[in-house]
Amino acid sequence: MKVLVLGGDGFCGWPCAVNLADAGHDVMIVDNLSRRKIDIDLGVESLTPIATIGDRLKAWEQVGGKRIEFVLLDIAQEYDRLLDLLRVEKPEAVVHFAEQRAAPYSMKSSATKRYTVDNNVNGTHNLLAAIVESGLDIHIVHLGTMGVYGYGSHRGATIPEGYLTVEVPQADGSRFTERILHPTDPGSVYHMTKTLDQLLFFYYNKNDGIRITDLHQGIVWGTNTSLTEKDPRLTNRFDYDGDYGTVLNRFLMQAAIGYPLTVHGTGGQTRAFIHIRDSVRCVQLAMDNPPTSGEKVKIFNQMTESHRVADLAEKVAALTGAQTNYQANPRKEAIENDLIVDNRCFLELGLQPTTLDDGLLAEVVDVARRWADRCDRSRIPCLSAWTTRQAEAIAARP
Ligand SMILES: NC(=O)c1ccc[n+]([C@@H]2O[C@H](COP(=O)([O-])OP(=O)(O)OC[C@H]3O[C@@H](n4cnc5c(N)ncnc54)[C@H](O)[C@@H]3O)[C@@H](O)[C@H]2O)c1
Repeated sequence: MKVLVLGGDGFCGWPCAVNLADAGHDVMIVDNLSRRKIDIDLGVESLTPIATIGDRLKAWEQVGGKRIEFVLLDIAQEYDRLLDLLRVEKPEAVVHFAEQRAAPYSMKSSATKRYTVDNNVNGTHNLLAAIVESGLDIHIVHLGTMGVYGYGSHRGATIPEGYLTVEVPQADGSRFTERILHPTDPGSVYHMTKTLDQLLFFYYNKNDGIRITDLHQGIVWGTNTSLTEKDPRLTNRFDYDGDYGTVLNRFLMQAAIGYPLTVHGTGGQTRAFIHIRDSVRCVQLAMDNPPTSGEKVKIFNQMTESHRVADLAEKVAALTGAQTNYQANPRKEAIENDLIVDNRCFLELGLQPTTLDDGLLAEVVDVARRWADRCDRSRIPCLSAWTTRQAEAIAARP
């Protein structure tokens, strides 16, 4: 199958592109390399040394025996080129990873807020409009986030896969039931763009019948897959800095270099997680099980387990002997929250979850130790504050 992987040079996109090529698909990566440019702007680097996109593709051709094409294109700004690409390539599926994905970066300044909205909302909308204009029947597999449901209190309710069945009271006292999109509760400008994506999908699916699978993904941990481990030039990125590093990978890396684990607030925040290998597998399962013509947007909760941040820190400390440092929280968020998630769709399709207890935590610590000398310790703290109040609390950190 011909597949375009938008954002295929990124952390989730690269191992996914390689996996789809390995599975026999005809893969083309479309990326504007903005993530690499943001690294330069922020003055940070992936902990693991990553090859240029050219070297990655050369390595994959040598190791994997199949070519992956690459097109340098900004999906948010180059609509006409995107449309031409669809018309020429006629992909059967487009996997869409091409968004600014860091919540702290999205809250850094008004410039990064505006960039995140402009990039993410325009990119997704351009893709939808271009598919309609091309007249092609293309299945979109989009990477959304569990954060669209919000991390407030769900009062012990299980978060369903995208849709909620509600009872609506009528004036005459009767009630009818309706299946609606689960209400959204974004916790950052980044998360807000993902909730807007969800509405765009709802509309274009209803109006134009576009077939869409929206994957509400948890926080991804780990770094490599069995394929990206095959050659150093295929190595995946490992973000550890305060803007782009995600919580579990940050803890594992901090433990590896003897830096006290940076728990924000009480650590009572509960989040959903998935290992990079399962993320890659889920995208493949979603592609292999597309919605039928006329079917509503399919929404899958792409996560395998939930944990409280303080419990994660404890787990990492038990494994490595690391100290924990509770710090003022840069985010405006609930002190603690519950998170019970229905993820049956992927389990029923055959996903066998990789969990924190599968020994892979130690593997990530090993990767981090190997590259410890590349770490700039001054970039570890998260300094992007959600509000002035949080900024003051960060400034007052000892
Ligand atoms: N990493 C996670 O923990 C996580 C969790 C949940 C959801 N997601 C979602 O998965 C997707 C990929 O995340 P990631 O961690 O790989 O991020 P990433 O930043 O590593 O990769 C995103 C890629 O998209 C490219 N890109 C961004 N804007 C583009 C544009 N306008 N045109 C072309 N290319 C563009 C970037 O250059 C980069 O290569 C994102 O949409 C993110 O919201 C990630």
